[in-house]
Amino acid sequence: MNALHSPISIVRPPVVEFGAGVLFRLGPWVKARGIKKALVVADAFNAARVDQLGLEVETVVFGEVRPEPDMPNLEKLLELADRTLPDLIVGFGGGSAMDLAKLVSVMIGTGQKLVDIVGPGKAGKRSVALAQVPTTSGTGSEAGIRALVTDPATHAKLAVESIHMLADIAIVDPMLTMTVPPAVTAATGVDAMAHCVEAYTNKKAHPIIDLYALEGVRLVGRYLARAVKDGGDVEARSGLALASLYGGFCLGPVNTAAGHALAYPLGTRWHIAHGAANALIFPHVLAFNVPVAGEKTSLILEALGLGTSKDEISVRDAAYDYCGALGVEMKLSKLGVPESDLEIMAGDAFAIRRLLDNNPREMTRQDILSIYRNAY
Ligand SMILES: NC(=O)c1ccc[n+]([C@@H]2O[C@H](COP(=O)([O-])OP(=O)(O)OC[C@H]3O[C@@H](n4cnc5c(N)ncnc54)[C@H](O)[C@@H]3O)[C@@H](O)[C@H]2O)c1
Ligand SMILES: [Fe+2]
Repeated sequence: MNALHSPISIVRPPVVEFGAGVLFRLGPWVKARGIKKALVVADAFNAARVDQLGLEVETVVFGEVRPEPDMPNLEKLLELADRTLPDLIVGFGGGSAMDLAKLVSVMIGTGQKLVDIVGPGKAGKRSVALAQVPTTSGTGSEAGIRALVTDPATHAKLAVESIHMLADIAIVDPMLTMTVPPAVTAATGVDAMAHCVEAYTNKKAHPIIDLYALEGVRLVGRYLARAVKDGGDVEARSGLALASLYGGFCLGPVNTAAGHALAYPLGTRWHIAHGAANALIFPHVLAFNVPVAGEKTSLILEALGLGTSKDEISVRDAAYDYCGALGVEMKLSKLGVPESDLEIMAGDAFAIRRLLDNNPREMTRQDILSIYRNAY
């Protein structure tokens, strides 16, 4: 964990609009920039309400973004972009739509394939504008510089990281999340919390980011159960939208750690939604890190309204009951994952060094397997 004087770089979209109803600001922004043609990147749900974006320019819609998008999904979008040549890309949806929007914004017209830009700093300068409009409260992707796409051949999530994928404008309007069903609300809310928790207990944690991290956890503690119970609760939806944005602020300079590394194989191999996978893994990794991050773990529990324990078993039980009470399935065996796959999953997770190396306590392949077995 870093000290106050440790160097850190922070990047944010130059314009972040936040609050109920701010979506109406997109239209005038587009007009003021002299945009001629927009390409909206959306999942089927959001593609059906593109008119709400208020774009008064020629608009092409790609409405086929799949949850946890894979390379063929990106290639289809890229083909449409290269054919229609927009000068604005709008990501309209959850993390899946926003990540594909980021990628197409730097790949359009370049002839590049995803493999050419995987990793940090490989994508070139973009020639089109980029606006991000999240409709789930979870990934914080609107605020960041990373995008994730699954390679169907290897089941690995390929991460592209580039300053050129930072949005020109992010419009975080909680009213767009009112329709998110309770199960997706719970899963995405835990994802936002996991970004904050994993940044807060991270090897690269930094006091500047800790502020957002702990407040993000507090917001989830205060509002997630309320929003799951009553999707029409504007205050709760707004609290979660802010938590998600704060999670995004945590991801850029610090990023996640073992929680996300262990959650990824659940998504890539067994198609468990990103947030649901994070929730299932969360109690186990939180408890695993207690020996080296006891003080911060106790503050996390307190922020969630779960007491202040520093004991591994009670930390795990409190976090497990918290996620279970939100309605998240907490057993791998109930999600169609065969026990025989746990070893392969442990190998996959162990290979995700870019995240595992951030974890405050070293995690061996055997530790990962034990966690999967405990979660089974
Ligand atoms: N770039 C990053 O920093 C980052 C961070 C975390 C996660 N991710 C990625 O984001 C993806 C997950 O994103 P997500 O959790 O937001 O889910 P998602 O974008 O896959 O959406 C989940 C489901 O919710 C539906 N939906 C979206 N908005 C809705 C609304 N307002 N009302 C009703 N239904 C709605 C979608 O159609 C979809 O079926 C994963 O691929 C993950 O790897 C990226
Ligand atoms: Fe995440």
